[in-house]
Parts: sequence; C-alpha cells; structure tokens
Amino acid sequence: MPTWRLRDFHDDDLDSAIQIWDQDRAPQDLPAVFPVSEVMSVARTGGPAVVAVVGDDMVGMAVAQAQGERAWITLVALSETWRNRGVGSALIAELERRLRVRGVRRISALLAPGATGTAALDNCGYRSRDGLVFYEKVEHLGASDAGLLAELGGRVLAPGLWDALAGMEREKASIERRIVLPLVERSLAEQYGVTPPKAVILFGPPGTGKTSFAKAVASRLEWPFVEIFPSRLAAGSSGGLATSLRDTFADLAELQSVLLFIDEVEEIAGARSGLAIDPGHGVTNELLKLIPGFRDHDDRLLICATNSVRSLDLAFLRPGRFDYVIPVGPPDPAARAAIWQRYLGSAAGRVDLQRLVAASEMFTPADIEFAARKGAHTAFEREVVDRAGEPASTGDYLKAVADTRPTLTDQALTEFHEDIERHGRV
Ligand SMILES: Nc1ncnc2c1ncn2[C@@H]1O[C@H](COP(=O)(O)OP(=O)(O)OP(=O)(O)O)[C@@H](O)[C@H]1O
Ligand SMILES: [Mg+2]
Repeated sequence: MPTWRLRDFHDDDLDSAIQIWDQDRAPQDLPAVFPVSEVMSVARTGGPAVVAVVGDDMVGMAVAQAQGERAWITLVALSETWRNRGVGSALIAELERRLRVRGVRRISALLAPGATGTAALDNCGYRSRDGLVFYEKVEHLGASDAGLLAELGGRVLAPGLWDALAGMEREKASIERRIVLPLVERSLAEQYGVTPPKAVILFGPPGTGKTSFAKAVASRLEWPFVEIFPSRLAAGSSGGLATSLRDTFADLAELQSVLLFIDEVEEIAGARSGLAIDPGHGVTNELLKLIPGFRDHDDRLLICATNSVRSLDLAFLRPGRFDYVIPVGPPDPAARAAIWQRYLGSAAGRVDLQRLVAASEMFTPADIEFAARKGAHTAFEREVVDRAGEPASTGDYLKAVADTRPTLTDQALTEFHEDIERHGRV
C-alpha cells in the first residue's frame, strides 16, 4: 500500500489541483462559497496551501485564507480513492500549523452539508454552528469596468432608489412601462416586437425629481450610473467641449452596461441660435453625431434632463434620437401627501397631513423635503431650550411651509403644459 505525504502547494500543482476539485464536486452540489479562481489565486500567493501526494500524484489539497487572527479554510478536496483514510484530517492539521505561526487564533469553514471535508473538520475538533444563514451579493461589475468607471466618475448605485421615490405615480408608471420593463424583460419585449429604449429625455420644472428618477432607473437596472456635467466638460478639456464629449463617449463604449445621465442638457444641446455654451464649436452637432453610435450598443441608456425642453435644438428632439420625451410634473395632492409622509418620518402619525398637503400646493418634492426638514429643526431648537418633550407639530410644519418659497409659479405651470403639448412623447 503506497503512503501519502504532505508538502506545500506550488505553481506546477495547478492542473492537478483543478482536476481534484472537479472530481470532488458532484454536478448537483451547491455552488462553492469560494470560487475556484479565488482559491487558486490565494494558493499561489502563499495561502497557506498544502497538498497530499502519493509518489508524483496529488491526492488531496487544502487551502486557507488568513487575515489577522482569523482564517477561513476555503478548500478541502480529496481524490476519490483517498477519502476516509485520514488524508483530510492531516491536511487540515498541517494548515492549522501554518496558520498558528501567522498568529491566527480562529479558523472557520463554510461547507455544504456532507461535502468533502466535513468528516475531517469533525475529526479535527471543529464544531458546526447552526442557525446561521449565509448571505452573498455578487457585484456585476468586472474588474476592468470598475477602473474605467472610476475614471468616468461613475458608480453603481444602491438598490431601492426606485422605492424611495414617494408618490409621483403617473411619472413612475410611464417610466416603468416605457423604460424599465422593456430593458428588464428584454427577451419578452423582443418577442412582442417592443424595442427597448436607448435614449430618453425627462423634462419638467426644477426639483420635480428628474435626477432622482434617472438614478432610480439605474438602481433598478443594476447598471452603473455615469453623469456628464456640461459645465465640467467645458472646463476640463484642452481640445474643446466637442473633443471632450467625444472622448467620454469613447470610454463609455468600453463598459458592459451603463446609464449615462446628462443633466441640464440644454447647455450643450440648446437651439443653435441661442443657449449653447459655445455654438461655434458645434457641440450640439457633436452630441447629435454621438447619439447614433451610442444607440448601436445594447445595455446602455442615455437619459437627458432639462428644465427647459423648449430651448432644445429641434433636431435634437427628433424621434430617431430620443425614444421618449417624458414630462416629470409637479406633484398632485396624492403625491404631495406621499412625499410629506416620506420626509416627516415618525412625525407623520401626529400631524394633520391634509393641511400640509393643501398648504404646499405650488411645492415641488424638493420644496417639501426642505420644509419638512425646517419644521423638524424648529421643534428641535425649541426642545434644546425648553426641554418640554414637545414633538414637532402641524403648526411647526405649516410655519415652515409659509417660510419656504415655492418653486412653482403659474407661469412655469402654463409653460410646462404647453411643453407637454408640443414636445411630450410618451
Ligand atoms: N418622488 C419623490 N419622493 C421623495 N423625494 C423626492 C421625490 N422627487 C424628488 N425628491 C427629492 O427632491 C430633491 C430634488 O430632486 P431632483 O434633484 O431629482 O429634482 P430635479 O428635477 O432633478 O431638479 P433640477 O431640475 O433642479 O435638477 C431631491 O432631494 C430628491 O430626493
Ligand atoms: Mg436634476
């Protein structure tokens, strides 16, 4: 009977290691907690990792990953014929010796029930702990995307931004139906001849939530969010605005998926006669030229936002460039109630919500957020002085409303409705 011996893992062992790993895993096994690429790269950089060999053949391997006083055993694998013969326990004991000299005092392992290694861990004095749940989240972004994204100042946004938008049911419904669903249910959309959008415009008065909606869409799609600031483009480039815009789009083409947001787009796509920052340099033209290329790729969406859709270049608004031109309007009473509730927090139960809704008629969501903070602050400051235990009241919030200048005006609303008539496309 040949006997086995233990030694350190070295780079030449890689192929055999992967073979043993494969052999050891039944097809119906749960996916490994530590993926093979991660385990092997730890093994190659000094793990510690030990292998059991018989002659020149590898029959087992164990790897751990240490940080401070804590280590995780990330792999125990044995070849078929060498199970239940003490190799696993010996491998673990050897790993422990190496971990101990590094100052490790707590060693853990995560295994599927009955997986190779469970018997060895039992034998080596490990105790299993019940009642824990293993949570995991895998970042979609590849490493190369991550670097590029950082350069572009982009980021992956938190989940749940969509649900954090209160009220605005009309806007939510049209953005969900036109934008989110066709992109999320891409194959179903294709089956029904629905073309997912590539570029859309959101327009409406300031503070109605255009930027928030753009971020919420990125959050729902789980795509990275990149924002272009027209003013910064101008400042940061030597070759002019058009060149810097072109460079940015070239970088974006490298990303797997991206939601590109351009706020205040009238600054770069204003009517050529008027608003553009430097119409002489043809920035509007440049953007017009870049959009078709952007539209050629799947998994990307351009959202442009503007307070002034009427000042946009008409060529810019053509259907071939933007799939939808969606109004994001002032909140109706139901939306205002939902937004007040969101920002009142625990105070919502104590105050007369309907009075606040009525008093904040020309308020945008941003105005309501501001007034809610102000009301809370008034009550807080009173409490600092009085210590009377008196919470923020309806009166505090009504006073805050009275002290807040509403963003919306009759003229802005009239113009918004004209804009919906003339430019809206949902
Ligand atoms: N539906 C909503 N629920 C809760 N908060 C909201 C909602 N819509 C907007 N807000 C809040 O109002 C503020 C302004 O929103 P946002 O910046 O998205 O508006 P905007 O339309 O992009 O404004 P601007 O035209 O000035 O760029 C933000 O702090 C945002 O959190
Ligand atoms: Mg905005």
